[in-house]
This record gives sequence, C-alpha cells and structure tokens, in this order.
Amino acid sequence: MEARNEGKQKIFEIFKEFMTGITKLEELGNAANNFLLRFQQGLSILQRPPIVTSSKLIENIIKKNETRRLKSYIEAGCINIHDAAQSTRALRTSLSGLSDHLIKAQCLLRELERLADEAGLGMETAAQVDKESSDELVTCDEETTTLPFPEVTEYATLIAVVYSMMKQNYAMQEKIVRSLSFKSSSGELETYTLMWAFFVAAFDVATKMMDYQNKLVLAPMVRVGTLSFRMLAAEYGADITYGEEIIDHKLVKCERRINVASGTIEFVEKGTENLVFSTCDEERNRVVFQLGTSDAVRALKASEIVCNDVAAVDINMGCPKAFSIQGGMGAALLSKPELIHDILATLKRNLDVPVTCKIRLLKSPADTVELARRIEKLGVPALAVHGRKVADRPRDPAKWDEIADVVAALSIPVIANGDVLEYGDFSRIKAATGAASVMVARGAMWNASIFSPKGKSHWEDVKKKYLRKSILWNDDVKSTKYTIKEMIAHHSCLELPEGKSISKADTLEDLAQLYELEDYYWTVKNIRPLTHDLNYVL
Ligand SMILES: Cc1cc2nc3c(=O)[nH]c(=O)nc-3n(C[C@H](O)[C@H](O)[C@H](O)COP(=O)(O)O)c2cc1C
Repeated sequence: MEARNEGKQKIFEIFKEFMTGITKLEELGNAANNFLLRFQQGLSILQRPPIVTSSKLIENIIKKNETRRLKSYIEAGCINIHDAAQSTRALRTSLSGLSDHLIKAQCLLRELERLADEAGLGMETAAQVDKESSDELVTCDEETTTLPFPEVTEYATLIAVVYSMMKQNYAMQEKIVRSLSFKSSSGELETYTLMWAFFVAAFDVATKMMDYQNKLVLAPMVRVGTLSFRMLAAEYGADITYGEEIIDHKLVKCERRINVASGTIEFVEKGTENLVFSTCDEERNRVVFQLGTSDAVRALKASEIVCNDVAAVDINMGCPKAFSIQGGMGAALLSKPELIHDILATLKRNLDVPVTCKIRLLKSPADTVELARRIEKLGVPALAVHGRKVADRPRDPAKWDEIADVVAALSIPVIANGDVLEYGDFSRIKAATGAASVMVARGAMWNASIFSPKGKSHWEDVKKKYLRKSILWNDDVKSTKYTIKEMIAHHSCLELPEGKSISKADTLEDLAQLYELEDYYWTVKNIRPLTHDLNYVL
C-alpha cells in the first residue's frame, strides 16, 4: 500500500512539473505566433504589386495629382522608402524572434523529455508493485487481487501523448521557421500561420482536460450556483465551480442562444424566455454541469445540449428531497447500481467531456465503499462524496472518517464534501480523509471569500460584490434574492428592515437601489445594446 501511495505521489509531482513546462511552451508558442504574423504582414507590404502605370485611369489620376512625392514614389517602384525600411526591420526582428523561440522551446522540450522518461519509469515500477501485491494476495477474494492501479498508468500515458504532440509541434515549427525568407509567397505564409494556429488549438484540447487534484471546488447548489455566484467564487479562488442541479426533463426542452449583449451562452426553454442555465467562455474550463436524471437516454439527450459549453457533466446521486426521490433521481440512484451503470456508461461512451457523479454515504461504510468501487470501475475520472447519509440533516456533522474509507479504497481522485466552513478546513478535511480535492457548499454560500487564501472578507462586502456580479451577468432576480437572504439569515436576521426590503424587491434594479448600486446598474444596462435584438439561436 505504501509503495502504491509513493508511486501515486511521485507521478502527481511529475505531472504537475510537466504541465508547468507545457504551459511555458504554450506561452512561447503564442508569442512566436505573433512574430510569424508580423512577418506575414511585413512581407505583404514589401511584396505589394506596383501600380499599373499603363492603365489610362491610373495615368489620369497621376497626371492630376502629380507632386514630387508621388513621382519619386512611382519611380521607386511604388515603395514608400520609410514603410519599406520599417517593414524590413520588422521582418528581421520577427525572424530573430522566431529563431530565439526555437532555441528556448528546444531547451524546454529536453526538460519535458526527462519528465516523460521519469513518468515511464514510474509506470514500470507501478506495474511491478501491482504484480508483487497481487502475488501476495492470491488467497484473498478476486476483487482485491485484481484492483487496478490506473492513476500512474493514466498520468504516464497522458504525459507520453502530450510530449509526443509537443515534439511534433516543435518539428513543424522548426520547418516553418527554416523555410521563411523574404521570397516566401503570401500563399505559403498563409499556410504556415494556419498550421501554427491549428497546433495551438489542438494542444489546447489535449491539455485543458479537467484535473481533479488539489482543487477547491464550489459545490452544486440549487438557486445559488448560477453564473454570477460561480464567477464570484472563482474570483476568490475556487478552481472548479459546479452549477445548480438541473433536471433532464427541463433541459431537453431548451435551445442554446448566444446573448451577445451580456456575453453569455444561454439555455432557454423553447418558445419562452425561461432561462434554465447560462454560462460564459471565461468559465468554460472549470464549470461542471450537474444533471438530475433517472434515465440514461434522457440524460444523454440533455447532456448533449450543454456538453460543448462546459468542462464536465456530473450526475446528482445525493439529493434526498422528496421530488428527487419520487422521480427516481438523486439519492434514489444510490440503491440502483444497474441504473447508475446505465447512465454513467451511456454518457461516458457518447460525450467528449469528463462524466462524474456526486454521492452521499450509504447506511454502512462497507456499502459506500462497494458502491464507490463499482462507480470507479465505470471509468469516471473523479468521485465527489458528501459525508452525510440520506437521513442526516445539514446540522448533523459530516462523517469525514467514512469519506476516508472511500479514499483508501479508490485510485481515482475523491472530492470530499461536508462541513468546510473556513479556509483552514480545506487542509483539515484533506488531512483527515486523504481526499484529492475539497468541495464546499454552505460555507461558500454564506461567504464566497472562503476560497481566498488571504482570509475571509467581510460578508457585507461579499454580498455587495455578489449583487454587482448578478447585475453584470444579468442573473435571475429570484436566485439573487434567495442567495442574499441566505447570507443575511446566517450573519444577521431576516426580520430586520434589510431582509424585509429584499423580500419586496421584484427586479435587479430594485436590489441595486436598496444597496445604492443604481449607478453601477445603469452603467451596465447602458453599455449593453438591446438584448432582445441581439439574441439569436445557434
Ligand atoms: C442551498 C443548497 C442547495 C443545494 N443544491 C444541491 C444540488 O443542486 N445538487 C447537489 O448535489 N447538492 C446540493 N446541495 C448539497 C451540497 O452540494 C452539499 O453536498 C451539502 O450542502 C454539504 O456540503 P456543506 O456541508 O459544505 O454545506 C445543496 C445544498 C444547499 C445548501
């Protein structure tokens, strides 16, 4: 067991270092791309064809405007000496920038090769450890002896694949840079810039896969986890932000719209203005869409509507509310492993984004571990575990020790959830459970600055900041009211005038007035064109 943990720890460290190198390489590639574009621009100025002086029309224009400057311009072959000198300088700077890029990229690539080799060795050692432990455990039951050791292998494979892509990318960049000359044709340059940009895009897809290690996670929360709250949490330091649970029946009725005015992607019930979910490009790599479902086909149909705009899809398997249980969703799934299999396998097979789920504890730790193992075998990249049972109330303490049992039994990252109320609790729950990442719900709802390593801001400041975000992202007023009321109820009292005024507010403008944010409200409104004219269905 110890050798396994050491192996895991080592590969995570290699992976982290590798990805830091990859990010640097990406930055270098982007900077070099600018040099390439400048080269293309500079050359196009130098290669501009001269004016056809034999044309009657041009001849007339020249005659009518004949000045000394125009004459010398035509005599010089229609090249402005100043522009030409500038373009030549730009070409030389671009070429030297590109050569410089190759040298730096090659150094980085060598470092990445070393890490890829280390990861390969780690994989071999892991295989050896696996073999030895299965030899030792031949007398135990089958499940124990065949336990996989996937993390090391998966990380090492990912490193190998990304490294090989980067090597190919470098080879292509080298070829492009070596073939650049003042005689390169515009067609050639067009192809080079396209190829360069294509590799950057392909690289993005390969590396922006969701990583569930060492993450601070905003939990899914109905009515709270809308776009503005997710953006607020991310600003304070949340790495992954779950949206509120949305039921598949509702999502399948939606169409996707781009709201140009507010810069959001919206999923709106067809034939209505009922906004069901909204997101934006900025959170594309961290937002997890949480789905409520009891049927694999419907879950797929619903997920397909949003999957291109989110980082991952998660299935809610923990909601104990009557409407969920009666609909066979949420915690009702915990006792239906075949249905869990159906849903997760269908989504995994058909979607390109990671598919995960969030569970609660079952009656006994052994039952929870058994279910978690079944889920792991379906190939999910992570599992979120809320440390309470279905019958527990929020005031009952979360059972971190039972989350620890799940962590010990699984190889995939576990996201521990329950009773994280201070920044210090992130490390406490990690130490107590061994979980890879930590998820927080109420602690964030009451004060989203819980994610900040600098310490919490005053809740009143956070509340105002949240309202500004709601105005900016044009959030639903009902969600905004609900969330602000939750903050007040926790820190103050809803019976005071502030709470009563919030209950009476009908619009975001009313709320803005209440908190003296009218100027902000109108500034945002005025810089947005009329939303309805710009909405269109894609
Ligand atoms: C207002 C609110 C809404 C919630 N909505 C969801 C939800 O949509 N999906 C879900 O899986 N859990 C939901 N939960 C449960 C939380 O995600 C979390 O599991 C639970 O609150 C325990 O975490 P905590 O102790 O940090 O609050 C909700 C909790 C709260 C307080």
